[in-house]
Amino acid sequence: MIIAANFKTNHTRESTREYLEKLDSFLIKNSIKDDVFVFPPFTALNRYAIISDNLEIGVQNAYPVEKGSFTGEIGLEQLSEFKVKNIIIGHSERRHILKESQEFVAEKFSFFKSNGFRIIYCVGEPIEVREKGFEAVMDYIYSQLENIDLNYDKLIVAYEPVWAIGTGLSAKEEDIKEVLDALRLKIKSPLLYGGSVKPSNAKEILRIPNCDGLLIGTASWDVDTFCDIIMISKLVAEE
Ligand code: PGA
Repeated sequence: MIIAANFKTNHTRESTREYLEKLDSFLIKNSIKDDVFVFPPFTALNRYAIISDNLEIGVQNAYPVEKGSFTGEIGLEQLSEFKVKNIIIGHSERRHILKESQEFVAEKFSFFKSNGFRIIYCVGEPIEVREKGFEAVMDYIYSQLENIDLNYDKLIVAYEPVWAIGTGLSAKEEDIKEVLDALRLKIKSPLLYGGSVKPSNAKEILRIPNCDGLLIGTASWDVDTFCDIIMISKLVAEE
């Protein structure tokens, strides 16, 4: 399983260091085999002395350029300093709040693919599309896969319904299953679910057949809660 923590605009450099220390020792102590990723804010990037070989950090975004004049953005040169090789692309907050188009998202994808990054690529429908039914949902999601190389070997796809993100209201198991099953027909890479995952619903979601892991926002910000979810994942894997 893959368990990823998206800090969004939370945590400082100091609190990220403490978080990673705790998480690292938790993974070792409990012999956790899951691949665990933490996506802190840019200001918390560092060459952390992580011991677990299944714990890596990544970035929530970056500009598809080596370096240049893109005020407020960071590129490959800045990421390389911290040996960052994991990135989230297409997150709904970037698509909807920051107005990233599919064309730009796809450009980022090909840039970071050509630089060998592991990419957590996010797709998911807003509520008005969900209300139109499953076919409309899949049409919307397929449009978010336009110009994305689904055969890329370092691809992970996260299904995150927009209306479930940060709302405390996760999608229903049957809705997640239906979308993941449809995605599985096109995508061999691991498929994650994200959207109000918490210790109380993680087990049911991880048991969904085509679900290979979780992308967690709010519930990941507290390290103990995130570790609880990792423990649930370990128990589900042992079932
Ligand atoms: P959430 O966020 O867990 O707070 O819903 C998930 C995400 O945005 O990746």
